[in-house]
Amino acid sequence: MAAGKGKNDSKPQTNMPPPEAKELYDQAGKLFEENKFDEAIELYSQAIEKYPEYSSAYFNRALSYALKSEYEKGINDAMRVMELEPNAADAPYVMGVISEYQNDLAGAQEWYEKSLKSNPNYQQAKDRLKMLKDKMKGAMAGGKMKTAAGAEGTETVVEEGQIKKVAWFTSDMTFKDVVGMEKQKQIIHDNIVLAITKPELLRAYGKKLGLGVIFYGPPGGGKTYLVRAIAGETKAKFIIMHINEIVDMYAGNTEKNLHAIFEQARKNAPCIVFADEIDALGTKREGEQQGNMRMAVNQFLQELDGVEKNPEGIFIIGATNQPWDMDPALKRPGRFGESVYIPAPKYKERREAFKYNTRSMPLSKFVGFGRLARATWGFSMADVFAICDKAALKVAAEEDRTGKKRMIGIGDFIAIIKSQGSSLDEWYGMVKKDVISKTETQIVEGKKQEIVKEGRLSPEEKVRYKPMIKDIKKNLNPVNIFVKKVMRFWAIYLF
Ligand SMILES: Nc1ncnc2c1ncn2[C@@H]1O[C@H](COP(=O)(O)OP(=O)(O)OP(=O)(O)O)[C@@H](O)[C@H]1O
Ligand SMILES: [Mg+2]
Repeated sequence: MAAGKGKNDSKPQTNMPPPEAKELYDQAGKLFEENKFDEAIELYSQAIEKYPEYSSAYFNRALSYALKSEYEKGINDAMRVMELEPNAADAPYVMGVISEYQNDLAGAQEWYEKSLKSNPNYQQAKDRLKMLKDKMKGAMAGGKMKTAAGAEGTETVVEEGQIKKVAWFTSDMTFKDVVGMEKQKQIIHDNIVLAITKPELLRAYGKKLGLGVIFYGPPGGGKTYLVRAIAGETKAKFIIMHINEIVDMYAGNTEKNLHAIFEQARKNAPCIVFADEIDALGTKREGEQQGNMRMAVNQFLQELDGVEKNPEGIFIIGATNQPWDMDPALKRPGRFGESVYIPAPKYKERREAFKYNTRSMPLSKFVGFGRLARATWGFSMADVFAICDKAALKVAAEEDRTGKKRMIGIGDFIAIIKSQGSSLDEWYGMVKKDVISKTETQIVEGKKQEIVKEGRLSPEEKVRYKPMIKDIKKNLNPVNIFVKKVMRFWAIYLF
């Protein structure tokens, strides 16, 4: 791949680029190898200016953008390659990679398959498709809809907008795949795993076998990941509620859908129901609480109350990174009575996550996980995963261009860390106005006035989400921001 694009094409490029464009292109390839992505992009752009049909230059620029997390630009370039060479295998490949980085697994699968249709021997597309399928195994594919009546098996059955049967979700993951989070695993073990695997033990002590719990915390912290591991760990019946699929535009269907899901759970207890991104259902935002959404919330509350009355073996887990957007009614005791905070990873967890995510990569012996963990001070688990994946992609791209194999070195990781940054830095700033306060400028009698508006959290919520609020405040504190920068700088540029 990379600059050696021609190799994987089903059709070689017919028109040759003029020598001055080729020269720029080759220099760009070298800069790419030196991890100078911005400079490489600049030279690819100059090469394209000289030769606007330069598909290899577009391709490599797409790849550089992907490594820098500038996905829109990467997609534009990959699209241009497909225009210039409709049968090329590598543009769809890069589209697949970008889809994966954007968490669109189904989209990624389609792109890799398209790539392999053009060139069935495209090794990198084959490898990624295999990895992707492992990741998707039984996974969220459970949400796939089927509109035929009476279909058996693992697919969700829907008739005229009404859910008849929800697909069971299965997972091979266990707690061993979950790095860190010891405290959270313990809570889950005691309240869910034990209740499912040894109900007699808990009954003997008069413990209620049922639970409504919310996992909350910043994005990419591993909430969804952890819940998937619960499915594998308990081997219990497991339903994933896709809120957007439940809310139907026809009156009445939404309630029927929710009822169908809870009926299926009750008939199959012990059963876990997972409502991911639950803030989408019980939204507190003004103006959004009308119509179907409101009815969905009411129905959901009714079903939850049913669970409270008959608590044997129904476990409802909700996850959200914006707990302040949840409908307050959902949070009362007996509904989602418990809240478990999943924080961004600490140093030790990031170090272990680097180790875990690179376990099957050919690593140079100079890769120090401690340094990587320090260079990613304040990054999320999802960031760490993306950094490892991009470092591997970068070295694979180089091998494709030069034909030379090499180990993945510390420099490859550091280059990606430098170019992509932490997804959380921006997020803390974004949620500040919701959680703490926002300053608005108003003109009063011709004079500018600063007005501070309180965040949307009620006093009760401030107590409930205290650990998260504390973390958000800490990450907005200028001293902490400075310390974070120094730690990263130290690890990135020194050792
Ligand atoms: N404890 C962990 N051990 C190993 N990998 C992890 C862990 N937590 C998260 N990851 C990695 O980070 C990725 C993102 O995590 P996940 O999607 O679960 O975050 P999330 O908290 O659900 O975020 P969001 O609020 O955006 O939905 C996972 O796909 C996984 O690769
Ligand atoms: Mg999630």
